[in-house]
Amino acid sequence: MSFFTNINKMFKKISLYRLFSIVSFVMLITLSVNKAQALEEVDDFQPAKLWKDDNGVHINAHGGGVLNHEGKYYWFGEHKVAGKTGNKAHVGVHVYISENLTNWKDAGIALKVSDDAKSEITKGAIIERPKVLFNETTGKFVMWFHLELKGQGYKAARTGVAVADKPTGPYRFIKSVRPNAKHLPINITAQEKQAFELMQQEKEVPEKLKNNIKGYKSLTFLSRDFTGGQMARDMTLFKDKDGKAYQLYSSEENQTLHISLLNDDYLSHSGRFIRMYSGGQDEAPAIAYRAGQYHLLTSGLSGWKPNAAKQYIAKHILGPWNKLNNPTLGINPENGFGANKTFGGQSTHLLALQNKPGHFIAMFDLWRPDNAIDGRYIWLPVEFVDGVMRITWQDNWDLSIFE
Ligand code: GAL
Repeated sequence: MSFFTNINKMFKKISLYRLFSIVSFVMLITLSVNKAQALEEVDDFQPAKLWKDDNGVHINAHGGGVLNHEGKYYWFGEHKVAGKTGNKAHVGVHVYISENLTNWKDAGIALKVSDDAKSEITKGAIIERPKVLFNETTGKFVMWFHLELKGQGYKAARTGVAVADKPTGPYRFIKSVRPNAKHLPINITAQEKQAFELMQQEKEVPEKLKNNIKGYKSLTFLSRDFTGGQMARDMTLFKDKDGKAYQLYSSEENQTLHISLLNDDYLSHSGRFIRMYSGGQDEAPAIAYRAGQYHLLTSGLSGWKPNAAKQYIAKHILGPWNKLNNPTLGINPENGFGANKTFGGQSTHLLALQNKPGHFIAMFDLWRPDNAIDGRYIWLPVEFVDGVMRITWQDNWDLSIFE
């Protein structure tokens, strides 16, 4: 090959490199412009509208909860897919990060479903209402969620736990349980105990005693599940001022909500628990602490369909709890739903603002069961009127409302 042919080849190579660099540069610019458009800063909350993440995709974190950690908010929720089947866990638990609560960065799947058909969290199981707490002592992030085993509908009524070293995961599934087997609630009344003991001995409970017990039917489920562990469906977690953590879950065939102290590593139930309001039929628990009071928001039982929100208040997390009025006010103009249908939503979390102690956002899901991925988020500011929660519909609002 002559000297000139070599030089010619070299030039060709160089111009190819140049062409390649120019094309990559242009592609990079286009991509960043697109990203910038998708990233359009959002500085207000628009309940029930589409909420886009940093990729311009509707946030996929339903039945969620927010972990506050070192100045950042981590929003965990059920990753749903399109269609009716989208309510099952095909992917896992999604996590997003934000510093201002209106712009969310997709941080991926924190807990993945398993491809192993024998795993309790195999693809097609039901994983709902995941919540995460940071354990200061172990330095681990602990996730609990409602778990239904694949192919069993909502029969299993279990709760699962997973851990991670970083807030965004990956979370490692440890186990699932029916909580507090062979433990009695610490607030069982004398009459309930008397009836419970008769049930355990398979003896008839006198009619008079039955009639004296509020939510008697629910007590029969507590007794039925005493040995094997209590049912646990809709749930949330709460870390108290002293670092102790509690799980709240709908139990006893959804008739009664339990509040259970977890052990110090947050990985198991301690056996110490209360029945929050026997026969109250509470689901979708969300809890907050403010000024010496615990505030609890729940829903009634109507599956994906909305019903009226309820609120309870207590001086101690393990009760006694008092029932107050429905905290919601106003109407969602899009569906015409007001307080008796919680604007079309169902509670999932009370989010504590990191830089404004004592201020909370009430998070609700507006479910779209026929196309699960299209479910919406209704976040509204919580006001405290005479120490009682009030949550008023807003078409859009921003954090200046708390000033
Ligand atoms: C709701 C519950 C949801 C989901 C749904 C299934 O009552 O809050 O988390 O379990 O039922 O029908």
